[in-house]
Amino acid sequence: MSERIIVALDLKGYDNIVNLVDSLKGAVWFKVGAVNFTAYGVSLIKELKKRDKKIFLDLKYHDIPNTVKGAVEAAASLGVDMLTVHSIGGVEMMAKAKEAVKEYEDKNGVKGPEIVAVTVLTSMNDDNLKRDMFIELNVKEMVLKLAKNALNAGISAIVASAKETELLRENFGDYFKIITPGIRPVWAAKNDQKRVVTPGDAVKLGSNYIVIGRPIYGHENPQKAFELIRKELEDVNT
Ligand code: C5P
Repeated sequence: MSERIIVALDLKGYDNIVNLVDSLKGAVWFKVGAVNFTAYGVSLIKELKKRDKKIFLDLKYHDIPNTVKGAVEAAASLGVDMLTVHSIGGVEMMAKAKEAVKEYEDKNGVKGPEIVAVTVLTSMNDDNLKRDMFIELNVKEMVLKLAKNALNAGISAIVASAKETELLRENFGDYFKIITPGIRPVWAAKNDQKRVVTPGDAVKLGSNYIVIGRPIYGHENPQKAFELIRKELEDVNT
């Protein structure tokens, strides 16, 4: 079950991050996002690789197709295992990301990173889609259209809130591997997350992976928090 938990490394300070990784026995996946990649970059990725950890590089690429292809090639060379692109960047852009992985695999004979599509950020709602992006569709309609684009580009993994997970399962069955943030065990503070689900409920709703940060790294005993979450997921599966 621990391979379904992705620990978000959003805490501050290089040593604190590395110490957390070392203290979490049994944790397999770690997410490095824009803040800590910008601060610590390749050396942080190398620390994780040294420890044989799986890396979810969450930089949400969105640029012209050729640039995204180059970024994915660079990420593949770093040895990351999953990385995110914005579906709103278009089918051609996502297809180029996939092409970069395929070329990396053909050249090196090893598995490249899984490309994960991001649809509509949870910070957007129907109102700001319309006001800031001039989009008349509502969030749910947009999520489905952007998921379809990801599918058309050959992408089979997607980031989705628990609410969207149900929608995606209804419309696409088991096609997508779903990665869900906004997870809070009953014993944890919600922080700034507004719509949260428990680890167990996320998996019951169809998530393959859960992303969870503060309930683990903000806990007085991160290892204990991780074990509680792992146990909760085990209980769902038994
Ligand atoms: O600390 P917490 O468990 O809230 O961290 C959740 C992680 O998932 C953060 O890295 C956050 O940026 C990310 N995330 C999210 N909601 C999204 C997409 C990503 O919370 N819709």
